[in-house]
Amino acid sequence: MTAARIDGKAIATALKLRIANDVGTFQLQHGRPPGLVVVLVGQDPASEVYVRAKAKQARATGLQSRQLVLPTETSEMRLVEIIESLNRDTSIDGILLQLPLPAHINPFRVLETIDPAKDVDGFHPYNVGRLAVGQPAIAPCTPLGVLHLIKHVVHALAGLDVLVIGRSNIVGKPLGTLLGDAGCTVTGAQLQTRNLSDICRRADIVVSAAGSPGLVRGDWVKPGAIVIDVGINRVDDGHGGYSLVGDVAFDEASERASHITPVPGGVGPMTIAYLLMNTMSAAWSRATLRGSPAGVNQFQLKTLGRLSGTARSS
Ligand code: GUN
Repeated sequence: MTAARIDGKAIATALKLRIANDVGTFQLQHGRPPGLVVVLVGQDPASEVYVRAKAKQARATGLQSRQLVLPTETSEMRLVEIIESLNRDTSIDGILLQLPLPAHINPFRVLETIDPAKDVDGFHPYNVGRLAVGQPAIAPCTPLGVLHLIKHVVHALAGLDVLVIGRSNIVGKPLGTLLGDAGCTVTGAQLQTRNLSDICRRADIVVSAAGSPGLVRGDWVKPGAIVIDVGINRVDDGHGGYSLVGDVAFDEASERASHITPVPGGVGPMTIAYLLMNTMSAAWSRATLRGSPAGVNQFQLKTLGRLSGTARSS
């Protein structure tokens, strides 16, 4: 079997067209575009690339997008003050604090100061907790993007065995919650998990977010499984540069899987599309429902319903 490639770039482009349309409607109704600010502290090269890409695509979708680049020495107290002023700025609907932060800043302390209604990363404990107990919440962008890709290729998720490798706060843990809510039997694993290859061979869907190049080998994949690669690993290309590779041995896994995401061009574009989606829906909820998380979720269901042609308005 040769797996079909799941084209995250094309799927994200379709989603961004919908979001751009919604941005236009919001602008007409409220006299301003939704506003996103991306805050970067320090000079982590990978973060600089991500932040530029996020800001550029936000502008291309019609959002008002600002980048705030702060020096590495910025104190935690100063960063908190800046976030508090962004919380008060009514033209800003989404605040994204790019991680990792310099070592002298406690990320949890700062993330807790973001207004939960503007927490478009879904990292504030309020949103994390609501997601965990099955209440409407702003959910993190990468897990939402992964779920979207999975739903693109399989419509009945209930009862499927899913293996999620990696238990980060950004991907593995929230993704396990979302998949469990969709009726999947979710196994959460990590690099230390014993017999990982055997567990993987039982999975109908494998999601790897472990940050370990080539971890998932072809013979780990159950024939016909769906493989989603969240890994973005920089490896030496032998010519003084680097190339980006995922966690999955792509060519080997493609011989057994039914569907597989490439790296790059799989999950990455979906993460940014969902950042724009979260910002758009946070704006809508803030403008009409005092920032209620239920408003955010209703809005997203409407956009997604129109995308798949099965309007599930609620
Ligand atoms: N660093 C790596 N991924 C992310 C992300 O999704 N959001 C933020 N804020 N920082 C990150």
